[in-house]
Amino acid sequence: MKVRTAVFPVAGLGTRLLPATKSMPKEMVTLIDRPLIQYAVEEVIAAGVERVVFVSARSKRALEDHFDRTPELEYQLQDSGKTEVLAEMQRLSSMCDITYVRQKNPLGLGHAVLCAKDVVGKEPFAVILPDDIIMSKKPVTAQLIDNYNKTGKSVVSLMEVPNEDTSKYGIVKLGAEEGSGLYELDGMVEKPKENPPSNMAIIGRYILTPDVMEALEHTPRGAGGEIQLTDAILDVAVKQGVYGYLFEGKRFDCGNMNGLFEAVVHFALERPDLREHAINVLKGASKLY
Ligand code: G1P
Repeated sequence: MKVRTAVFPVAGLGTRLLPATKSMPKEMVTLIDRPLIQYAVEEVIAAGVERVVFVSARSKRALEDHFDRTPELEYQLQDSGKTEVLAEMQRLSSMCDITYVRQKNPLGLGHAVLCAKDVVGKEPFAVILPDDIIMSKKPVTAQLIDNYNKTGKSVVSLMEVPNEDTSKYGIVKLGAEEGSGLYELDGMVEKPKENPPSNMAIIGRYILTPDVMEALEHTPRGAGGEIQLTDAILDVAVKQGVYGYLFEGKRFDCGNMNGLFEAVVHFALERPDLREHAINVLKGASKLY
């Protein structure tokens, strides 16, 4: 069945980016000239997703506005002949259907995904954590969908992380390799404090079958006292198998300052309109410091 819907849990407060996120949703923090959320939404659309669900909370209005029409701005751009910018604004507001649901209690990532159950229906769906911005030739969501189409089972994105960082992630136990970079998963644990099963971490891109939603209904609170998505996926892995895919691409954790800064540098260097300027700035700076 086609993956038509992507769920974006966007209710989090973004305390790691304070003070930038004091009065602005963390998903609206800019990476060069567009907010993080736009990169993530464009990624899923490029992968053929038709419907986006934002699981949101109070004080996240800016996200809705960003993907809405802005008639005053459009008139002004038209009047001043800025047709390219106008076309870009119109593309942004007509990019996809967005549904908003509220996560009324901050009970964790698993709970946030469960809030989208009725909108998703009994279909496979993507989950996208927009703090994780991934630079790749082929959108990571599309890479995962290819593997979902091969296996018919849930597929999570995987990346190797340093041993000392395993307590920050969902960590998997790899099983048999089924294809290039595609592994059956023999287990997974959310933010292991000790004895991580490997150093392969789950990154914020998932294609999940509807039974993960069902599992979430019965998932008790886990790590950090929260309902964890990893625990529900493990439940499905034990009963019918789940896959992990070592994606092609470079991931930036834009939910913290170091990752965000790194992303700015790399994205500027990859953009034809900014590359030369970025190189000159970096060369100049390296002479000064
Ligand atoms: C979430 C997931 C975790 C995953 C991580 C990837 O954790 O719970 O399994 O490894 O995203 O970024 P969070 O970073 O939201 O605490």
